[in-house]
Amino acid sequence: MANVTDDLNSRVAAQYWHHSIDLGGGVITPGGKSLAICAGEASLIFDRVDLGGLSVLDIGAWNGFFSFEAKRRGARHVLATDSFCWSHPDFRGREAFDVARSALGVDVDAREIDVADLSPESVGEFDVVLYLGVFYHRYDAIESLARAARLAKQVLIVETHLDLRDFNFPAMAFYPGHELNNDPTNWWGPNEHCMQALLAGHGFKDIEVSTHPAGHSRAIFHAWRSTQARTMTLGEETRLKPVAEAKQLAFTQRHPILSRVRAGLRPVRRFFAGE
Ligand SMILES: C[S@@+](CC[C@H](N)C(=O)[O-])C[C@H]1O[C@@H](n2cnc3c(N)ncnc32)[C@H](O)[C@@H]1O
Repeated sequence: MANVTDDLNSRVAAQYWHHSIDLGGGVITPGGKSLAICAGEASLIFDRVDLGGLSVLDIGAWNGFFSFEAKRRGARHVLATDSFCWSHPDFRGREAFDVARSALGVDVDAREIDVADLSPESVGEFDVVLYLGVFYHRYDAIESLARAARLAKQVLIVETHLDLRDFNFPAMAFYPGHELNNDPTNWWGPNEHCMQALLAGHGFKDIEVSTHPAGHSRAIFHAWRSTQARTMTLGEETRLKPVAEAKQLAFTQRHPILSRVRAGLRPVRRFFAGE
C-alpha cells in the first residue's frame, strides 16, 4: 500500500495542478484552487440538480474536478473536454487529468476539442452542460457561449469572472492586454445583467445567479431550458446581490473611463463610438 501511495504521490508531484482533488489514501493534488473553493463551487453548481441518470458535458474541464464530481453525484455519462491547457507544454493538463482519473478509478470520458469545434454533430447534446471559467477566455466569447448553449438540453451552468457590476444594465469590459490578472488569455468581463441577457437570448426560460465562494467578482449562472432536474429554486442567501457602494467605487477606480461615464459626461454608446 505504501508503494502504491508513493507511486501516486510522485505522479501527482510531476504535474501542474489547477484543482485540488482528494485522490484518497491521503493524496490531495496541490491545485491553485483550494479544496474549500472547489467544494464550495461544486455545492453551488450541483446541490440543486438531480444528476441521476443524466448526461453531462464539462467544457474546459482542465484537471477534471467538476467532471469527477458530476459522476460521483450520479450522472450516467460524463464527457470532459478541453484544449488550451490540455495541450499546453507547461500545464500538460491532459496528463494531469489522466493521473486523477486513473487514481479515482472513475468512468469519465475525455476528448480534446476546442470550444470553436463544439457542435451537436461533433460531440452530441447533453442534459447538463458545464461552462465553468471559460467564457472570458474566448475572444469570440458571445459566439462560444452560443456553441455551449446549443448543446444543453436541460441546463447550462456558466461560471465566470464579472466586471462593471455598478452598471444596472447589460455591459461587458474588454481587456485587450494583460489587464485582468496579468493574463493575456482573459478577454472579457461581463456584468450579471449582460450574462443574463445573453443566456435569455438562447431560449433559457429561467436564469438563476448565485454568489461565488471566491467573492463578488465571480458568479454562477444556472440557465434552465427545462427545470425537470431542479430539486429546489435558488435560496435568497446564495442569490447574487447588487454590489455595495464601497465595491462600486473600487470597480470605477480600476476603470477610470467609467468615472466619466458615471458622471454623465456622455452616454456610454456615444462615448465608446468616440463622438
Ligand atoms: C479557468 S480554467 C477553468 C477550469 C475549470 N472548468 C474550472 O472551472 O475550474 C479555463 C479552462 O478553459 C480551457 N479553455 C480555454 N480556451 C479553450 C478553448 N478555446 N477550447 C477549449 N478549452 C478552452 C482551458 O484550457 C482551461 O482548462
